[in-house]
Amino acid sequence: MIIMEMKNSRAIKFNLNNGLASNVESTKRMLSEMEGMYRDNETLKEMIKEKNILIYEFYQLDIPKEEGHLAYGTTILYPGKVGNEYFMTKGHFHSILNTAEVYYCLRGHGYLLMENPEGNTEIQEMTPGISVYVPPKYAHRTINISDKEPLISFFAFRADAGHDYKTIETKGFRKIIIENNGSPIIMDNPKWK
Ligand code: NI
Repeated sequence: MIIMEMKNSRAIKFNLNNGLASNVESTKRMLSEMEGMYRDNETLKEMIKEKNILIYEFYQLDIPKEEGHLAYGTTILYPGKVGNEYFMTKGHFHSILNTAEVYYCLRGHGYLLMENPEGNTEIQEMTPGISVYVPPKYAHRTINISDKEPLISFFAFRADAGHDYKTIETKGFRKIIIENNGSPIIMDNPKWK
């Protein structure tokens, strides 16, 4: 066995079953933080009143937010729906818009929804083993279409890219994914501004 002090490199184990890293605290998003993001906000409010559950969690590791570094981690998006709209992450643009991201699906079944400021929408299905390249300038959000399994993905992006959540919180994505007769369909977001 090699014994050596590691000053700069890192190794973190992410559990393939639950997506979590032990000894590192995840950032948690509760249902109440999704107010206004779903088509059926009334149902969302009722659900929050009943129980404000954890909808997803992800890692923001202590990688320097500087040029040359890569930020990475996992996102664990739990199954569920608000009305007939699947649980999803808030989604964001990067503050440095012209920066890409890579996702790798470890578990579950869902979609990666992407949209650029010019209005082009792209969508990629995520199942274990699928990697998805999110091109520069595209906002991105994951959507879990399973009714029982978490959607777990690994991501990596330029560490200084930053997050612009505000644009999506204000405008929404142009498209949403809902369940229709037991299957996912994509439709125009009636709340899009
Ligand atoms: Ni991102």
